[in-house]
Amino acid sequence: MIDLDRALDLDDPEADDFLAAIQGNIVKGHGRDFTAHVLLRMGDDVPAVRRWIAGLAAERVTTALVARRATLAWRGTGGPGEPFAMVLLSASGYRHLGFPDEQLPVPSGRFVGPRDREYFEFGMKEQAGRPRSFNDPPASEWEEPYRQRIDAMVLLADDDEQRLSDTVDAVVASTAGVADVLTTERGRVLRRTFPRGTLVIEHFGFQDGVSQPIMVQQDADREIKARGNVHWDPTAPLSLALVPEPGGGFGSFMVFRKLEQDVAALHRALRDLSVRAGLPVAEVGAMAVGRFEDGAPAVPTGTVDPDADPNDFHYDQDPAGTRSPFHSHVRKTNPRGDVPRVIGAPAEFERARRIVRRGITYGERPDLADGGGTEAPATGVGLLFMCFQGNLDQFAIQQEGSDSNDFVRAGVGVDAVIGQNAQPAAQTWPSDGTVTFTMANFVKLLGGEYFFAPSMAFLRGLDAGPEPTYGDEAR
Ligand code: HEM
Repeated sequence: MIDLDRALDLDDPEADDFLAAIQGNIVKGHGRDFTAHVLLRMGDDVPAVRRWIAGLAAERVTTALVARRATLAWRGTGGPGEPFAMVLLSASGYRHLGFPDEQLPVPSGRFVGPRDREYFEFGMKEQAGRPRSFNDPPASEWEEPYRQRIDAMVLLADDDEQRLSDTVDAVVASTAGVADVLTTERGRVLRRTFPRGTLVIEHFGFQDGVSQPIMVQQDADREIKARGNVHWDPTAPLSLALVPEPGGGFGSFMVFRKLEQDVAALHRALRDLSVRAGLPVAEVGAMAVGRFEDGAPAVPTGTVDPDADPNDFHYDQDPAGTRSPFHSHVRKTNPRGDVPRVIGAPAEFERARRIVRRGITYGERPDLADGGGTEAPATGVGLLFMCFQGNLDQFAIQQEGSDSNDFVRAGVGVDAVIGQNAQPAAQTWPSDGTVTFTMANFVKLLGGEYFFAPSMAFLRGLDAGPEPTYGDEAR
């Protein structure tokens, strides 16, 4: 039996079966450059919907085992990656398929609060009233497709953009008479060339996707060998993202948020702050994010392999927020020691609130291609933010802390990059300095949903009959 409280050891004789039983992209990212996110509302012919999902599972869905082998193969050949697919269901999707609330997936593991299952059960539109609060605009202000009931998402990915479009057309055609397609979002990896190499970035211009919990022991060993682990251990137990399903398999909760980025406003604010603080824009940018544009952490650190992405740092090295202020994005979302030091909660609790990020940028950037002739965009671009976790409270605590003026300490202000707040407190730059300036509200939620990525057995079993696959005896 695979132990969810540890990272997966690939040498375990059960490892391949374990990976073959779960969907890809959870334990390790799919790594493709182009994605499509088909958001669906299921139709009234429930047996047909169930057959359709089971068919997708048989024909297209990529297991974690196949995904892993594909990654190894394309590392050898240099790509391109094969088509990737996964299916995710919201609580309304489970209900529509006939599963009563007692059979919805539930969070598990240490530190699960009594009401943590509410996030999934109520869905993102009914965030108000949940155990943690953040400042999302109400669902009535979201983009039109997101105001609808969203039952499922089919996530398709490929390195070949044309082949992805063909797959989207085929999947959308197959929904005829089964489900309504509410919208299809398209993601596309953005890259920028720095002196240290060409890196994946997000729209504000910073390297993204660097610091992740690693749930495969051999991958963690490889990363530690390259990046070091004097200060920070990236290893994570499988339970950080995977929970047992009521039916006996394993799945993962997923957050999906379409976040629009006002690039023009953030860059303007950094220029103003730079003047106010008498520091270069690059320095104040690093204070806002907690990393420089090329990924170098604001808390200085080295790597073992000179080409590796630096990530071996901890805020014990910067307890006053001199380098990476308390409101910097990476410090708000992964406080690396602040929670025990400032709040007194156990270090294990802090580590158990990490998330596994799988987001991808959306929208076009002609201004990057033409060397600055065009203005940076204020709308139309952003991040299709996605993360996996075993308990949606992992995401909720991060979003709550980011939107709060009072995390990790009263009055520090919101997360300078993603904080949403109608009354943001001015942050102090750096935290132990004298310059005050407000950075907030550069990112806006346009819509989203909480999903669950069921096991392969669950998906395949959906065509077994009109009754829900989970029996009472399975619980
Ligand atoms: C448009 C929105 C966002 C942008 C532009 C953004 C940007 C970034 C950047 C540049 C990094 C540093 C590179 C890295 O470590 O990968 C980062 C890290 C991170 N972000 Fe975000 N992010 C966004 C939304 C979010 C949200 C909504 C959350 C969670 C609520 C989040 C959680 C994290 C976490 C956990 C890290 C890693 C921190 C660490 O381990 O040191 N981000 N983000």
